Formats: sequence, C-alpha cells, structure tokens
Amino acid sequence: MKLKKLMAALLLFACIGGQSFAQGAYVPSEENLRSRAEFADMKFGIFLHWGLYSMFAQGEWYLQNSGTHHAEYAKSADAFYPHRFDAKQWVEAFKDAGAKYVCFTSRHHEGFSMWKTDASTYNIVEATPFGRDVIAELADACHSADMRLHLYYSHLDWTREDYPAGRTGLKTGKDPKKADWKHYYDFMNQQLTELLTRYGKIGAIWFDGYWDHDSDSIPFDWQLRPQYDLIHRLQPACLIGNNHHEAIKDGEDIQIFERDLPGENTAGFVDKAAEVSRLPLETCQTMNGMWGYKVKDLNYKSVEDIVHLLINTSGKGANLLLNIGPQPNGELPAIALERLKGVGKWLREYGETIYGTTAGDVLPQSWGAMTRKGTVQYVHLTDNATAGTTLTLPLKGKVKTATVFTTGEKVPFKQTKEGTLTLTIPHHTPTIDYVLVLK
Ligand code: GLC
Repeated sequence: MKLKKLMAALLLFACIGGQSFAQGAYVPSEENLRSRAEFADMKFGIFLHWGLYSMFAQGEWYLQNSGTHHAEYAKSADAFYPHRFDAKQWVEAFKDAGAKYVCFTSRHHEGFSMWKTDASTYNIVEATPFGRDVIAELADACHSADMRLHLYYSHLDWTREDYPAGRTGLKTGKDPKKADWKHYYDFMNQQLTELLTRYGKIGAIWFDGYWDHDSDSIPFDWQLRPQYDLIHRLQPACLIGNNHHEAIKDGEDIQIFERDLPGENTAGFVDKAAEVSRLPLETCQTMNGMWGYKVKDLNYKSVEDIVHLLINTSGKGANLLLNIGPQPNGELPAIALERLKGVGKWLREYGETIYGTTAGDVLPQSWGAMTRKGTVQYVHLTDNATAGTTLTLPLKGKVKTATVFTTGEKVPFKQTKEGTLTLTIPHHTPTIDYVLVLK
C-alpha cells in the first residue's frame, strides 16, 4: 500500500513537474506586435530563390526532380561564380519597384547555404570559387536602403544524410540508416542562431518544407515551438511564418499562402484551404512559373497582371511576396527587371491606395477589389468597367463623398439606409486600375 502511495505521489510530481516545464501558449512581445503591424502595412515584398540550382537552370527542385545523386550535384558548387552579383543593384531595383521587403532563400531544399555557416562547409564561401557571403552583402545593402530583410529557411534537406527523409523520399541517394533527427535539429538551430546574430535585424524567418512530414503522414515531431522560441529569444521582433499550408501553429506571427489568396485553395496543396487567421497575411507568387531560375520559362506575368494580383491581395488584407529567380551569373532576369519597373511606376502613382491599407468592406470580385485606410475606402476597378454602368456595394458605413482618385472628379452615387451603395461609373480612358475614393 505504502509503495502504491509513493508511486502515485511520484507520478503526480512528475506530471506537475512536467507541466510546469511545458511551454505555455506563445505570447508575442511588444516589439513583435509592432513588427507585425509594420509588416502588415508593407503590402509588397520581393521573394528571391537563389542557390546552386540556378546553374542547372531548371528551377529549385532540379536535384529532386532529376533524381541526381546529391554528391554529384554538390560538385556544381565548385563552378558557382556569380560574378555579376551586386546586392546594391538588386535592392535598388526592388526599392524602385515599390517593394518594402525582400525574402531571400538562405538554404533551400538542396541543402546549400548561401552564407558562411560554421555548421557545414557546403556553403557559398567555402565550397565555391566565388567565396563571397551573399547574405552578408544582401543584409548590408538592405539595411542601408531601409529595406526589410526576411530569410527563407528550409526544414527539409535533400543532401544532408542526418535529415530523416519524408514524403519526398530518398531520390537523391541518401542512406536512410544515417538519419539522425537530433543531430539535424541541432544543426538547424545552430544555423538559425548564426542568421539571427550575424546579419543585423532580420524581419522574419520564412520556413518551408514542413509538408515533407505533414500532419497527414506518419507522426513526426518537428519540434517547432522550441525552435520558434529560440528565434524570438534571439530577435523578439523577428516574425515567424511557415509555409506548411495548415492552420497556424503556436509561436507563428504571420500566415503564409502559397500561390493562393488567403482562404482560397486554387493551388490545391491541401484538401481544404487553411483557415484564415487574424495574423498578418502573406501570399507568395511566382513572376513566371518557377521559383528558382528556369532558362526555358519566359512566361512572365505582365505588369498589368502583377498590379491586379497586388490589388486583389491587398483587397484580402494580405501582402504580396512576388518571386524572382536570379540567374547563375548573379543578375536578375531582364524581363523581371522590366516588370519591376512597370509595377514601380504604378505604385508611385497609386501607392496611397495600397500601402498601409486593410481589406475593404467587399472582398475581391470579378470587377476588382476594395482597400481601406481609416474612414477612406478605395474601389479598384480592374475590369475596364463601362461608363454609365452601375456597381452595387454592400457597405458597412455611410458614404459622404465618392470621387475619382486621379482627378478628384465627383462620382454619382446613391446609398440605402442599410448601407448598399450604387455608384455610376464615369467616362474614363481604359486603365490598369480605375480607382474611386469613398469617404
Ligand atoms: C514550395 C516549394 C519551394 C518553394 C516554395 C515557395 O514549398 O517546395 O520550392 O520555395 O514553395 O513558396
């Protein structure tokens, strides 16, 4: 009996003790909340997928898709010499395009680190003749241009033997017997610590690859929360996003949607679209069809398409993270630069209707979208609405004036007591986006 009591007491002690050590739900710091608010106002960022894969020019999945042995692929590092890389020029082009932040692939699924990491010699400084720390140069260029730097970091690794293969399997010739999660987890945390202690302020860590062991596959513990806590300890304002396509997990600060507007599931990565949270939202999209440089893919979205994408994303209250895959010589593709110029020109004129806005009363429709700033709402007509036709909007508040954004010309309208507004579209020359202002 005595023994039983002792056992029960021990068990109780273990439970209570365990609980007191267990983490409570994540509570963001003040700095973090400020950083989230700043991020939500930015609305437009540039995503960059750059790694050894740019040399094969078939996109960032080349290692996996071609089933090349990882050790053969790794030999390409010895030929990586992007002599035209100029971080300042990149950042200037992004600034000129109206982007407020850059998200750069520090290490993609191929496993190659684009900075001088002490955790592996498979990095741009030690394994290539180029020998320059690309992240250091990009961080300097960003910091001096007041451009926020986010870092993409892959949880999944197709080269390291210690990473326990998941859904994407062992096509790159790894030996499953060498998998060692603890070793790999420590490696990732060492790398994340470097990224957050050596390159100044990092706006966000953007995780990807979780889906290699997602919730539907054999149970796998990514140990996200302690990793997230490490990041927040090192830089409390650093936001954490994870491209897992699932509902937000404890410790995350932003919600990411890949090739989808929030709440939509056109990309079909999951059976059901993840529920849209109250965190700042971000939609990432390619400018052509691939994330990493693909020599054959010249199918770039037009300036008009990109502007419409930005409007619809803003109309959902989200940011647009628009991707470019830099070339193996370190330059951005000329078409991408040309598109950036066009977007920048548009944003210089219409930025007021995008930056710092939230979703308007009506979510994006076939005619366009609405954004809001305080008591002002912008109606973005992107479908070349015909003059004289009417547009009916179920609004929440009373409208005092309706004008054309560029000219200030009055727009005729009627509003019911319940708030339904009917606008009569004025004569105008066709444009990418005809904006009306409701106050
Ligand atoms: C996917 C792809 C990856 C790309 C990312 C960007 O997760 O695996 O290559 O980096 O999407 O959203």
